[in-house]
Amino acid sequence: MASTSPPAAAWFSTAGWREKEGHHTAFATAGGATTIIPESTHLPPYVARKAAAIEWVGPAGGVACQALSERAAQRYWGAVEGGGQHRLRYGVPTMSWRLPTRIEIQPGCLATAGASVRAAAAGSKALLVVDPGLAATPWPDRLAASLRAAGLTVDIDDGIEPNPRTTTAERLAARAREGGADLVVALGGGSALDAAKAAAMLATNPRPVVELAGAERYSEAPLPFVACPTTCGTGSEVTWVAVLTDAAAGRKISVKGHGMFPRLALVDPDALSTLPPRLVAWTGMDALTHAVEAATCRAANPVSTVLAERAVELLMRELPRAVADPAADAPARSAVALASTVAGMAFGNADVAAVHCLSEAIGGLLDLPHGLLNAVLLVPVLRSQGEAVEASLAGLARAAGIGEAGSHGAAEAFLDRVEALAGGLAIPSFSALGIDPAHHPAIAREAAANGSNPSCARTMDEAAYRELLASLG
Ligand SMILES: [Fe+2]
Repeated sequence: MASTSPPAAAWFSTAGWREKEGHHTAFATAGGATTIIPESTHLPPYVARKAAAIEWVGPAGGVACQALSERAAQRYWGAVEGGGQHRLRYGVPTMSWRLPTRIEIQPGCLATAGASVRAAAAGSKALLVVDPGLAATPWPDRLAASLRAAGLTVDIDDGIEPNPRTTTAERLAARAREGGADLVVALGGGSALDAAKAAAMLATNPRPVVELAGAERYSEAPLPFVACPTTCGTGSEVTWVAVLTDAAAGRKISVKGHGMFPRLALVDPDALSTLPPRLVAWTGMDALTHAVEAATCRAANPVSTVLAERAVELLMRELPRAVADPAADAPARSAVALASTVAGMAFGNADVAAVHCLSEAIGGLLDLPHGLLNAVLLVPVLRSQGEAVEASLAGLARAAGIGEAGSHGAAEAFLDRVEALAGGLAIPSFSALGIDPAHHPAIAREAAANGSNPSCARTMDEAAYRELLASLG
């Protein structure tokens, strides 16, 4: 029986958060009696959803302290509410925010790229890295013409493969050095953007890229980098990371650093008009995965969560329309292009988690498309995360307009809706990918070693990934 009058017990045995009619309140229990912590009713909703720990000093000096997740062991206590005899302290993740990239999101902005690059003082001798999938489209010529019209010299390289190799980034870097480039521009999907982003760093740090895997491992400032995404999934235009495949080792590596943030991101939604619907679907589901993982991972923060919720709302509503007719539906194109960049901003300042740990492990080993893998894995992996992601998924459900009461029901309803979305976009099941179970141990090992694995809401080790893979069939 809940009461708002604190019991007289000196110590409270447990504390937690309770949801009722969309409101979260904290409670403490002692001797079988439950007390609603009065101060908690004034907390903003994101605190209740994200708070990792509660400490309440009751009127008799009793303390209720309950860790709601492993984050409670971390270094923060967010705020103090109440006063006098009662004091409630709740832990919320500390956060910092960084995004030095200047971002233009505008239909037609590829045609005015030269002026934008000039305005950003990014450089004048450009190595332009172009996704070979754009060969039959007007975008490479339109971008190159705009750069040249602004007085830049342009050296074009379109030798990029899906899941770009470390050797490709090194080759591009050598080309930039030999040609005297002072700027790298990339046009394409995540593969072109990541290869070029790494090349901009390697151009001034001529070493094997595997030696620079990790964060801030290079010493010289990278060349300025301008990113022009032509899919609705990568997010690379607003992040500091490049993911490359070390083909010799059959694994992916990440290189990142503050200097690798693009100087400028030019997001032209019209570029989606020539993207095959299948790729709109796969890359759009990658963007949805970025948003969902940003919101559910341990590194989530209040700002990234707000962005993730907005991206989820846009993608759930507009992605089917964008896939149905990318050439004709300009509003849907604009919505998913915006959502993709916003989702990139979210995970770039939070993290990704188990879905990406698995998809990068599988992609590195078997060279399967990143967006497709995330689309296939998103719902089953999130279901495996259970209660650890429930409250965050409930927040996404609300953002998507799913009005289910209670965190558990809302989380289930959200996953059901994403499953229906994927089904409507002809995303296959995991078993349809035909991955030989003999690969499972290597995939599980790589997933557990992924730099984002510590951000998983539910602690995942190699054994947990093996079990998850076995359950996927
Ligand atoms: Fe991704």
